[in-house]
Amino acid sequence: MRTHTLSAAPETVTHKKLAAWVEQMAILCQPDQVYWCDGSQAEYDRLCEEMVGGGTFIKLNQEKRPGCFLARSHPSDVARVEDRTFICSARQEDAGPMNNWMDPGKMKALLEPKFAGCMRGRTMYVIPFSMGPIGSSISQIGVQLTDSPYVVVNMRIMTRMGDAVLKALGKNGSFVECLHTVGMPLEPGQPDVAWPCSPDPKDKYIVHFPEERAIWSYGSGYGGNALLGKKCLALRIASCMARDDGWLAEHMLISGIKSPEGEKTYVAAAFPSACGKTNFAMLVPPKHFLDEGWEVTTVGDDIAWLKPGKDGHLYAINPEAGFFGVAPGTNVKTNPNAMASITKNTIFTNVALTDDGDVWWEGKDGEPPQHAIDWQGHDWTPGCGRKAAHPNSRFTAPLSQCPSVDPAYNDASGVPISAFIFGGRRSSTVPLVFQAFNWSFGVYAAATMGSEMTAAAFGQVGQVRRDPFAMLPFCGYHMGDYFSHWLRMGRKLPQLPPIFCVNWFRRDANDNFLWPGFGENMRILKWIIDRANGKATASEGPLGWMPSYDDFDWRGLEFSEDQFNDAMHTSREEWVAEIASHDELFFKLFDRLPHEFPAIRDLLLASLWRDGGDP
Ligand code: GTP
Ligand code: SPV
Ligand code: MN
Repeated sequence: MRTHTLSAAPETVTHKKLAAWVEQMAILCQPDQVYWCDGSQAEYDRLCEEMVGGGTFIKLNQEKRPGCFLARSHPSDVARVEDRTFICSARQEDAGPMNNWMDPGKMKALLEPKFAGCMRGRTMYVIPFSMGPIGSSISQIGVQLTDSPYVVVNMRIMTRMGDAVLKALGKNGSFVECLHTVGMPLEPGQPDVAWPCSPDPKDKYIVHFPEERAIWSYGSGYGGNALLGKKCLALRIASCMARDDGWLAEHMLISGIKSPEGEKTYVAAAFPSACGKTNFAMLVPPKHFLDEGWEVTTVGDDIAWLKPGKDGHLYAINPEAGFFGVAPGTNVKTNPNAMASITKNTIFTNVALTDDGDVWWEGKDGEPPQHAIDWQGHDWTPGCGRKAAHPNSRFTAPLSQCPSVDPAYNDASGVPISAFIFGGRRSSTVPLVFQAFNWSFGVYAAATMGSEMTAAAFGQVGQVRRDPFAMLPFCGYHMGDYFSHWLRMGRKLPQLPPIFCVNWFRRDANDNFLWPGFGENMRILKWIIDRANGKATASEGPLGWMPSYDDFDWRGLEFSEDQFNDAMHTSREEWVAEIASHDELFFKLFDRLPHEFPAIRDLLLASLWRDGGDP
């Protein structure tokens, strides 16, 4: 019997500090009961059935999608809320100009009355979870308290969770305190709704206390706002731990590439949200690569933690155990591995429901259904003028279900990283691929990475937003210090992976993509790993080392040298404007900008004039 009307911990909890914290938070939040999650399949199944009964989950057609459910969020609660995300460091200058900041004492004074009684009429679930394989020296433990059973079942897919983690914590292991509420207490007799949350967009708070290593999240049940192991712990809090302890916590996928000779090379790649990490992590190479014996395998699709190993190389783990992937645009052509991963045991959120109890979204295979129920629960037909699935609708699926999962995905020691790749969504200016001259130039390129905003992000669609290292919404401290941390790692590490930049999104005058992308990215990836392994040539360009047309194997793709040159072109006019806009970022970070950066900027500028052409 593990359900408690009192907040006392079960006898298996020997960690006094944990038990006391749970007790204290239960007194504050006043749930009807406190439930310690054991992480079992039976518990998961029971919570899913309860949510079906309560209207939060719709059970999908179990012949077509065994073990799969659909949830529809409140229309106000569909994505991360960057403007309601706070880094409450003791000193404002440590949060930096890219983060919302409030004094930690003031924030607690504001939040405590909001959390007081916030779980009335609900259960407080205690979720012990490990980010990374349990027991790995790179992993971290967190404990999330939440009043959302939707969060519990998602956390079971996304993390290692339950009794095994409590055991690993022992009597006095350290853990990150993660407090979460949907912010909708129930008065006696008040019926619940399918997706409880705080419907006022200003009444949501995703709050981090970096010095205390604690997270308080109020008012949202969606994704990164509510699954606190993900962006809050594994990026914002972990980035502070990494700064302090000499490692890296990054918004990166990790994938492995095996050559026909059996040589295995791992890369880590950072792309901003909704710019193709999931696709790239699960890349299926073109046919002749497969025929020759090339293999691409997936370690992770969103977050990487990297620590220096004894041999001087960087070793990476994926702290997560599942995918929380964007559904729209996912199909058998763009991402067959993702499609195979979500055939069973998957939670879908905000996709459309077909009449035969299956799921649908814009860009799924085949013809759109003649009729469906859209993500808001309304009738939908192809011509109705509305989207059937929300653009940020997602699937939550176990990593182990991915056909391309890497055999080492669970390895406590991580995988050695041989190259870093950075890429934004840029319709012009940025070439298809180049290699930075050295670590410092690479850090500069990653720091000044830009990306055009999509419908899912805030701001004006198409406008370039600087998204340093794809970490703009996720760095838990001053971005200038973060750049310095990367430069410092470069000075300390004996074996530095080379740094590459890519752009899959460049367009021609008719707005068509210049590069086919998806599986064809294998051609670029092969050049990258060949460079990393000292096997490919390149010539010096203004931005870095550039490949030429003949450095690629073009079998099976019609892609002319002219097309290649268009995709690789570095325009002086565009780059002068681009470099000028780097200064906007630098001025914002001025007091903590690494002194290398203005020097590198000037060297890049100078190299644009190298051939002595027109001014
Ligand atoms: P988060 O989970 O939000 O961090 O994002 P992610 O980086 O995993 O994004 P995701 O893989 O879901 O990005 C999907 C978007 O990238 C869709 O619009 C895809 O069409 C697009 N995309 C992915 N790969 C390519 C590519 O090689 N070329 C082009 N043109 N688009 C791509
Ligand atoms: C992102 O926005 O980068 C995501 C989705 O990976 S969420 O977990 O909701 O932040
Ligand atoms: Mn992400």
